[in-house]
Formats: sequence, C-alpha cells, structure tokens
Amino acid sequence: MTIVSWPASEQAWERTKASLAGGVSTGLRASMKPHPLFFQGGSGPRMTDLDGHSYLDYVLGWGPVILGHGHPGLTAAVSAQLPLGATYGSGHLLEAEVAEKVLARIPGTERVLWSNTGSEATQVALRLARAVTGRRRFVKFLGHYHGWSDSMLVGYRPGADGSLGLGSQGQNPGALDDLSLVAWGDLEATAELLKSPGADISAVFLEPVLCNSGVFEPPAGFLEGLRELCDATGTVLVFDEVITGFRIGSGGAVTRYGVTPDLVVLAKAIAGGYPLAAVAGRAELIDRTTSGVVHAGTYNGNPVALAAGGATLDALAEPGVYEGFERRGKALADGLRDAFVRHGVPATVHQVGPVVQCIAGVESARTFDDFLAADQGFYDRLTVQMLRRGLFTLPGGRWYLSTAHTDADIMATVAIIDEALGATLAEGPGPVARQA
Ligand SMILES: Cc1ncc(COP(=O)(O)O)c(C=O)c1O
Repeated sequence: MTIVSWPASEQAWERTKASLAGGVSTGLRASMKPHPLFFQGGSGPRMTDLDGHSYLDYVLGWGPVILGHGHPGLTAAVSAQLPLGATYGSGHLLEAEVAEKVLARIPGTERVLWSNTGSEATQVALRLARAVTGRRRFVKFLGHYHGWSDSMLVGYRPGADGSLGLGSQGQNPGALDDLSLVAWGDLEATAELLKSPGADISAVFLEPVLCNSGVFEPPAGFLEGLRELCDATGTVLVFDEVITGFRIGSGGAVTRYGVTPDLVVLAKAIAGGYPLAAVAGRAELIDRTTSGVVHAGTYNGNPVALAAGGATLDALAEPGVYEGFERRGKALADGLRDAFVRHGVPATVHQVGPVVQCIAGVESARTFDDFLAADQGFYDRLTVQMLRRGLFTLPGGRWYLSTAHTDADIMATVAIIDEALGATLAEGPGPVARQA
C-alpha cells in the first residue's frame, strides 16, 4: 500500500508555521520533501506519523538515535535519573563514570569536557588549540561541517553565487580571515600551509570520514600524514567525530583508522538522541580550561544526558554491535547499488559501517565537486517515492542505521528501494549530473 497524502502532517505544519519560523526547529527540517512530517512517536527502527503511517526510520534524528527509538536500557537509565532532578550546577559522579567509558574507548584521550551540542564542542576545541599554540587561524577542508557557529560555517556549501565562503547571512565576515580552506585529502596543500612562515595555523579540523558531503573515506595515508605534519609544526589535530564517534568503530575513526588526534569532538551517537557532546583529548590540552580557557554552559554535564550517555555506551559495547553495523550497512549499500544498476540509473553508493550515501547521477564520485554534481532534484523525487512506501530517509542521500534495524528490515528496505526507483523513473526523467 502506498501513502497518497499526509493530511494530519499538513494540518500540523499549517499550525506550527504560525508560532515557529518555518514550522519546525531547524532550516534543514523545513526542507524535507514533500513537506516536513509530524510524528507521534517511535519504537525500535520505526516511527509513526500523525496520520498513523509507520516508517522504517533511516533519519534517526539526523544521526543520534543509534539504538533505535525507545531503547529499553536507555529509557530505563533516563527514567531512573528523572526523579532525581534535571541539573545540579555542581559535581556528580555520572560525569566521571561516563567520561571514564569515553576515555577507555578512545586511545590517546586522558580527559573529557562535557558540552551539549557538536557546535559548542567544536568551539571549545578551537579555543583550546588557539590557547595552546598562541596562533589564531585554522585549516578546514571543503565540504566539512563543524557546526553552525560563525567561526566554523565556512566552505561548507556553495552560496548563491557559487562560491564556497560564508555559510549564512548575518555571519561575521571576519570568519573568512581566520581559516584556510583546503580540498579534502590534499596533503601537499595542507603541508604548504602549515609550513609557510606567518600562516599562524593553530589547528587542523576535519571529519575523519567526510560524512556531511558524500561519506568519503580519507585517502590512504592522509590521516597519518596529517598527524606527522601537525607533530612537525606544533599544530593541534582535531578529529570532529560528531558523526563518526562510537558509530564507525568502538572508538570511532580513531580506532577504525588507527591514528590518534590531539582532540576528538563527540556528539550525536554518544547519548542515543539526548543532547550531549564532548571534547576528549590529552590532559595537557584539555586542562587549559582550568587555567584561562573559558568553557561554560549551564547544562554542561547534566545528569539526564549523562545517564543517556552511559546507557548508550554500554549498549554499544555489547558483542557484535559493530560487526552488525558493517554487515547491515553493506547489505543496504549493495541493495541500493543493485537497484540503481537494474534501473540503468548512474549513481555512486558509499558505505562506512552504518553510514551509507547515495550520489545520484554521478557514476564514480571521488571528490567534493563530484558530490555537488549529484542530481538532488531526482533524489528528492526518489525520497518521496520511498516515503510513500514506508521509508523515512534524509534529503541529500545519507542513510543512518541503528542497532534496532534487523537484517530482515534491510531486506525489506532494499525491495522497497527497487520499487520506489521504478516509480520515480515512471513519473519523470532519470538523473542529470551537473558538470563537476
Ligand atoms: C561533523 C559534525 N560536526 C559538528 C556538528 C554540529 O553538531 P550539532 O548539530 O550537535 O551542533 C555536526 C552536526 O551535524 C556534524 O555533523
């Protein structure tokens, strides 16, 4: 049975637009096709919308819901904390208990700073790097996303004029002076920058897998090369593992690729959907917050989010979790590839653990420009056809899996993708790749 319309969601959206800008709580959610859906709740890998339609959920709250919805262990831990209060404004032992779990999983880390969102955590990481090095500027790679702050939202997506500069109206234009943008994987350009006299580079920031723009793995030797360069030039190496942390390996990219940065930024999967973020790293860096680097936040280390964090990390430590992610991620990626081939649609599918990316219209995507060349209009149409058949997916081509998705869910999903792709091609043209 295909879903024809979403009257209750449409009605809800009309109502919410009167009190919320765009009717939802972020601009990206407003862009979801055919319009944002409104949900009554979720259970395991599924969510149910206000019209009573049930979907297999591959959005997972844009990433954090790594255990699926309403996970019993996570729910029990949060429920046990709730009657004890929401926040104390002082110390409590959960802060250290969960920090100890983080440190035990990520090699080379000795201390944790608790924060609430990835955007906050990347800010304090930059501040630490500047304080430790006495330098002002940093290196960022094109297409990498490190949150929506003025400092970081640069070089992420082309603006109206096609240039890759500031990401938002109202942003401080001075942000452009504080960084140098480099193509993902270009070690030579990074080396030239770090070694050039007067470059004043405090840190190199990167998503160790470029999840936000195509799920591109680092080229062979790239992370190792960055490590050497940062060591040689006294630059702070920051892995932004807001997506990859505890997702693509038990210690994120650090354990998957075996390269240890100076600072690791964590969020999303760390607390299964509750607002928790962290910076982890060597004591000598992190402890600068006790001698002049300000790291503030009313909700930092609040016990509800930390109860969620502890329970999520425990659930992710169960045997077979990462093998399961790998197997089901591969099954989904293979299913997508096969469907594209069967329907004669050029596309690239990338997969790293439980993160999968479709780049529609591009036969062999290797670069950020290839990712930008994808036919998003076509993919939007496919998204709607999948939604009509009970798959809730992200715009832009990324898919997330949770521990709650079973092998049978993936098999069912692959069959639906095939049908949805057929319907997309029946209603309009196939994808057209823009010139990269
Ligand atoms: C790699 C990366 N860094 C930072 C952020 C910002 O995190 P938050 O949305 O929690 O502020 C995101 C969010 O998607 C992200 O993907």
